[in-house]
Amino acid sequence: DALKILIIPGSARDGSFNRRLAEFAARQARAAGQEATLLDLRALNLPLYDADLEALSGVPAGALRLQQAIQASDAVLLVTPEYNGFPTPLVINAFDWLSRIPATQEQPAGLAVTANKPAGLLSASPGAGGALRSMNFLRQYLQMAFAMVVVPQQFALGRAHEAFDATGALQDPRAVQSVETVLQSLARLAQALKTA
Ligand code: FNR
Repeated sequence: DALKILIIPGSARDGSFNRRLAEFAARQARAAGQEATLLDLRALNLPLYDADLEALSGVPAGALRLQQAIQASDAVLLVTPEYNGFPTPLVINAFDWLSRIPATQEQPAGLAVTANKPAGLLSASPGAGGALRSMNFLRQYLQMAFAMVVVPQQFALGRAHEAFDATGALQDPRAVQSVETVLQSLARLAQALKTA
């Protein structure tokens, strides 16, 4: 059956360039025969991590939804802006909560579902750097803390405010190719791990 790829934009705002890039990547993945699902982190309604809150009421349901979405997918693609050179709190907060999910009879630990899960990275920014630094940080974070397997290929979309046409497609064929390269690498790894 088709590879399932979970695509997570790191910005939830209306008009987010990263969400647009995520939607374009989803379109490309579907054209390649994959099943692509977008996950809206804002819809998870996660409060800012607070150990007192956790002690009082446990890990919020939104974190379990993120866990289930990751568990149900063969690969995860993060598409994030950078704030002052770092990934957005929206992404980090969601994954920090995920890491706090304990194993119970109902569910495995949060970190058990991320372990060995293939991951890919894209980023976008109106600036020339395309939020490249956010990916360098995320690569370490996902590999070192979550044991995800992040493919070496990545793509930073600079000048994102002028990159898309009216249909939401990237106008520059080199940018399209770069997104394709990340998707193909991710699909190859996911397929290899699936059949291993
Ligand atoms: C930014 N922005 C930004 N851009 C960048 O290329 N490098 C950076 O370090 C920063 N830093 C930064 C900090 C904060 C607090 C904000 C709010 C913004 C600009 C950012 O790239 C721009 O707002 C993007 O449009 C955000 O991505 P979305 O929401 O369009 O996906």
